[in-house]
This record gives sequence, C-alpha cells and structure tokens, in this order.
Amino acid sequence: MQVITRVPAKINPVLSVGPARRDGYHDLATVFHAVSLYDEVRARAGDDLTVTMSGPYAGGVPSDATNLATRAARALAKRAGVPAKARVDVHKAIPVAAGLAGGSADAAGVLRACDALWELGASDTELATVAATLGSDVPFALAGGTAVGTGRGERLRGITVGTTLHWVLAVASRGLSTPDVYRRLDELRSGVSVPEPAVGEAILTALAGGDPGAVAASLRNDMQEAAVALRPELADTLRAGREAGALGGIVSGSGPTCAFLARDGEHSGELAARLDASGTCAQVLQVTGPARTGD
Ligand code: C5P
Repeated sequence: MQVITRVPAKINPVLSVGPARRDGYHDLATVFHAVSLYDEVRARAGDDLTVTMSGPYAGGVPSDATNLATRAARALAKRAGVPAKARVDVHKAIPVAAGLAGGSADAAGVLRACDALWELGASDTELATVAATLGSDVPFALAGGTAVGTGRGERLRGITVGTTLHWVLAVASRGLSTPDVYRRLDELRSGVSVPEPAVGEAILTALAGGDPGAVAASLRNDMQEAAVALRPELADTLRAGREAGALGGIVSGSGPTCAFLARDGEHSGELAARLDASGTCAQVLQVTGPARTGD
C-alpha cells in the first residue's frame, strides 16, 4: 500500500506578534491562509523508518527539516502505540526557510500519511495535538484553508473566505531563519512597550466579503521590519511589487518570501511577469488561496 498526501504552503495576511514570553516563544494573533503550492508526502510500508526528500527544493533541506518529518512519524507512532515503520518520501515544491511553513507542511503530511498507512483512524483533534508538539505552524498545515491562529499559532479557528484570492509569491535566493527574525524583532522593540497581539475586524470582514481590495488594505505583518532589517534587499522586492500594480504586498511570515495580492487571475499573470522582469527576486510563483490539505 502507498499513501499520498498533499499539504499546502501558507502565508499570513495578518501576523501580529506580542512580547517575548518566558519560554522563548511569542504570543501571536494571525490569519493563516493556505495557498496552492504543495509538498507531497508518500508513505509505504517498511522494515524501519526512512525519510527521503526529492523535488526542486530537496537540495536546500537542512537536516533538521528531515528530522521534523522523522519526528512527526515517531511522535504519531508513540502516541498510537505502534512501531514507527514506514518508507516516507517528501517531494518538496515549497521553498525552504522561506516563511511559507514548508517544514511544517512536511510534518503535517507525514502525520496524515502515516495515520492512513498504519490504519490508526486518529481524529483531527488527536492529530492536531501531536502536531502542536512538533511546531507552532504544524496544526494549521494539517487543517489547511484559512484560520485565525492564537497562542504560539497552534490554537486555530477556521474562517470562511468569500472568494478565491490570487497571490504572486516573490521567492528569494536564500532563506531566513525564523528564530533569527524573532530575535531581531525583539531587538528592534527593546525599551518599547508591546501591546497584546490582535488580528482586528477589518481583515476578517474583508476576507468574508471576498473583496481583494479590502484584503489588501488590511495586510499587516509585525515581522516585516525585522525581516527587512536582516535582508535590506526585500525593500526593493516590496517596492517592485507595488510598482508592478499589486493591490498590496507583505513579507510572508518570517520571510524572505514576499506575497502580493492581485485582483484576479489575469492581473496575477501581469503582476508575475512584471515582478520577474524587475530582477528583485529569484523566482516568481502564481498561487491561489485558500488551498486544502488532503489527497
Ligand atoms: O514552533 P517552531 O518550532 O516552528 O518555532 C521555531 C522558533 O520560532 C522558536 O524556537 C522561536 O524562536 C520562534 N517562535 C516564536 N514564537 C512563536 C513561534 C515561533 O518566538 N509563536
């Protein structure tokens, strides 16, 4: 038997970051939005546990990302009381260390694929509990769609989006480390009183109403300044997107990918071509959201 699961990348149309917590994390209030760029996880029976990476971004995968997929399989096996035996291959189409939660997508895909392979029948809640032990973004990757995330990002409330949104992703040539970006954010904020994180009503109303212009006006990412401080060239990418006619643009998560919102599919094509021609990013991808996790 072979099980195949696809898990989408995510962007955060709103990412509000609270003060650093004692445990080293930050409380968040965010909108997670899954987009149509997928890693694919294949799981087959095996005598022990092996995880391999293939696809366009396999080369850039750090060993800790392989470990996250391996840890996902072991954590699920332990919770279910079964031996962790599977041959897993992760086909990586999501850029690595890009602010798109590719590593989290892989962990979520391994949970879904191994749950099916081992015929565990775990509930969504059980899988989400294991997911939260693996990383802050893993529960959302399991769920897909669009959701408000709080806590470290692991507490989710699914929301409806009234239309298909067309995004253009500008991918950078090198990744950024999430902890480094949080650290820089804390440095930028030193001596400043940081309010509790909040998503705000504007983005929720805009998403529910399916109005891309209103969504664009509500885009906000508290990590953007820190990401741009670490990669000043991102300011050029963001400017290029605006000049190319994007309704709005934002750094995705901890970056360095930038996400630009288009009016519709045709506008997305024009925007992608102009961004490509601007020479301010390594790769341009047209995606839509919300995207579903599944097979
Ligand atoms: O949860 P995850 O392992 O993906 O987080 C990676 C790192 O990102 C954490 O070690 C922490 O430095 C930072 N982080 C944070 N606050 C969050 C999520 C992640 O500070 N809510």
